[in-house]
Amino acid sequence: MKQILIVLGGGRARGNTAQLAEAFRRGAEEAGHRVETVSLVKEEVKGCLGCNACRYGKPCVQKDAFNSLIPKIQGADLVVFASPLYFWTVSARLKAFIERFYCMAEEDPNPPFGRYEKYPVKDCALLMTAADNFFWTFEQAVSYYRFALVRYIGFRDRGMVLAGGCGDTNGRPRIQETDHLETAYRFGLTVYGRDGE
Ligand SMILES: Cc1cc2nc3c(=O)[nH]c(=O)nc-3n(C[C@H](O)[C@H](O)[C@H](O)COP(=O)(O)O)c2cc1C
Repeated sequence: MKQILIVLGGGRARGNTAQLAEAFRRGAEEAGHRVETVSLVKEEVKGCLGCNACRYGKPCVQKDAFNSLIPKIQGADLVVFASPLYFWTVSARLKAFIERFYCMAEEDPNPPFGRYEKYPVKDCALLMTAADNFFWTFEQAVSYYRFALVRYIGFRDRGMVLAGGCGDTNGRPRIQETDHLETAYRFGLTVYGRDGE
């Protein structure tokens, strides 16, 4: 049994992204995992100020929801980043949440090439929805995920569901007309094998 934290980086309350995250959750719970979903619309997290107070042993100076999310991140085996595609990348809400990982960094006396500090090591996954469905639609978002979360912060990628063709936000969510919900459900079901690996 794994502890899974889904961070929903915006989108409409019952929109494509919320439905995609819910399908993943259903699968993961059916597989026996414990899942908590946090919505960054309800739990507002601002971007990092770069004041560096956290680098001098102080808690983050920003008194928003992030401080209460730290124990949830630390307690999770898997953090699932879920976001609509906004201007070809993750939403500003999700980006702000990721920036705040800065205050969780620890000194690393021997960092790997291109990294300066170490972060809690977790598994991660990416769930995204978009209106378009071209081969380049998710390119920037995936590049950011791979570069910042996996390569830099050091998360271990468990996979992604990139749900293109879900319709724009000028109409009702259309993800039910695609097979992405089934894919996300199956991903949740199988994100860990029977032996938990
Ligand atoms: C501010 C904004 C920017 C968007 N940018 C893109 C984009 O760059 N590419 C795209 O394919 N869809 C874009 N969309 C459409 C959404 O990604 C798509 O409708 C998504 O499924 C909405 O998620 P939701 O139903 O969870 O709100 C944008 C929507 C909004 C509101």
